[in-house]
Amino acid sequence: MERININLNPAIPPLPKIDDKTKIDIRYTLISPYVSVHIYWDEVKGELIYEVEEPILEANEKEMLKVLEKSMEELINVNVLVESTADSMMDYIYKTSKLLIDELNLKMGEESYKKIFYYLFRDFIGLNEIEPVIKDYFIEDIECNGINTPIYIVHRIYRNMKTNISYDSIDKLSNFVEKIAQRCGKYVSYANPLLDGSLPDGSRVNATYTTDVTSRGPTFTIRKFTKIPWTPSQLISMRTASPEMLAYFWILLENKANLLIVGGTASGKTTLLNAIAFFIPPEARVVSIEDTRELNLPRENWLPSVARLSFGTQKIGEVDLFSLLKNSFRQNPDYVIVGEVRGKEASVLFQGMASGHSSIGTVHADSIDTLVKRLETPPIELSPTLINILDAVAVMSHAIVNKQQTRKLREISEVVNVAKDGSSITNTPFVWNPEDDSFYSKKNIKVFEKIAKRYGVTVDELHRELMLRARLLYEMHRRKIYDFDQTQRIINEYYKNPKAVLEAFGLL
Ligand SMILES: Nc1ncnc2c1ncn2[C@@H]1O[C@H](COP(=O)(O)OP(=O)(O)O)[C@@H](O)[C@H]1O
Ligand SMILES: [Mg+2]
Repeated sequence: MERININLNPAIPPLPKIDDKTKIDIRYTLISPYVSVHIYWDEVKGELIYEVEEPILEANEKEMLKVLEKSMEELINVNVLVESTADSMMDYIYKTSKLLIDELNLKMGEESYKKIFYYLFRDFIGLNEIEPVIKDYFIEDIECNGINTPIYIVHRIYRNMKTNISYDSIDKLSNFVEKIAQRCGKYVSYANPLLDGSLPDGSRVNATYTTDVTSRGPTFTIRKFTKIPWTPSQLISMRTASPEMLAYFWILLENKANLLIVGGTASGKTTLLNAIAFFIPPEARVVSIEDTRELNLPRENWLPSVARLSFGTQKIGEVDLFSLLKNSFRQNPDYVIVGEVRGKEASVLFQGMASGHSSIGTVHADSIDTLVKRLETPPIELSPTLINILDAVAVMSHAIVNKQQTRKLREISEVVNVAKDGSSITNTPFVWNPEDDSFYSKKNIKVFEKIAKRYGVTVDELHRELMLRARLLYEMHRRKIYDFDQTQRIINEYYKNPKAVLEAFGLL
């Protein structure tokens, strides 16, 4: 029996908007290949139902699952589960369950094992009954008001609905609330009955804990992380960056360059980072690492992770950026995105860049010079020559234009050379000029020379490509294409068939 591949990021289906609620009858996959949801109008109850369809277990399969879960609970090291990647957790569950099936001498066919593996995954790695709902891209809120009452959800397109999920015992629901608390790095008890925390994926959780039999028991609400990122064309419409600047990032990211975005507090660094992440080639494996979840990418092949702080005086449960980043390189990503680089994780990041993992991130610094100084001095203390692995630095800043607060990509500079004594030479192909609120570009782009050498293209070809992509991005803005799914589709399509995309936009 092979390990089953559970796909946690199935393609996001294009759901139709349907004004007449009674006509809604939609089914889509939540956890491939196991779980889908059926959203339909219930004639009898006169309301919309969100029905999760999980694999159905026969009586003997249920019995085997129970036995397996019980033995696994005794065996499993919870920390291993919480602190590794989804893939290695599934491996762990697979191996442990195989061992136990042999040991307990369970007679289980391939088909039964497939289904049982799903439930092991769901209950040990996932969040039990609500795991499929959590995985639904369209869900905004999940609400449970106690036992024997259905869980309600809010759907991005079809709004409020009742689900077919409910808890039938206070014990079960209390255990579940304890489990979410633990996932938030917190704990609840009689003395501490209120939980306010966030899950590793950035979703906010509120819960009340009670095991009082006279009440309906514990309650919880989960407000899912649904931050919609700004797209490159939106940044053009805000006049934050020029189409040429964005096209430059596109070419750099396609060619696995390393890039940092610097700027002051709330200058728009993370917003720009997320917008240019749309340019990462569709098949590339991406990991992102943040303190609090802000990044959102409409792509498969993406592993977001969030650092968690420890609670109390115990160090248990603490996962800092440094260890997350070290761990992420073991997953051999093509691209690493670090939300905000602050301390010792910078050296791990630069070593990663040096070993061929393209990296992008933000750093609090107001220019390329202060950035280089910050990287060279404690607590980061990089060796100056290692900084040469960085290709370009984008500088974001606040600016007042026509008495309006705006954000500007003030310049993009390239690292030409950082000497042993720490002094640096840079080249600045793109600047914003405050006098006339315009963006200027220079023909001399150093990174293109590097790319040309490495990949056997000519600098002229790269310049031509820059102009084409700049025109495409401008055209997307002109046609008001700001939707993030659509933007990702166009960029992905451009990777496959640039001519067709340019033609479709009337640019060829
Ligand atoms: N290009 C922009 N134009 C206008 N407002 C912006 C722009 N980029 C970001 N903002 C706003 O500024 C705030 C901070 O942005 P963020 O990207 O988180 O900054 P930083 O990462 O530099 O702290 C956000 O609330 C965002 O809505
Ligand atoms: Mg930020």
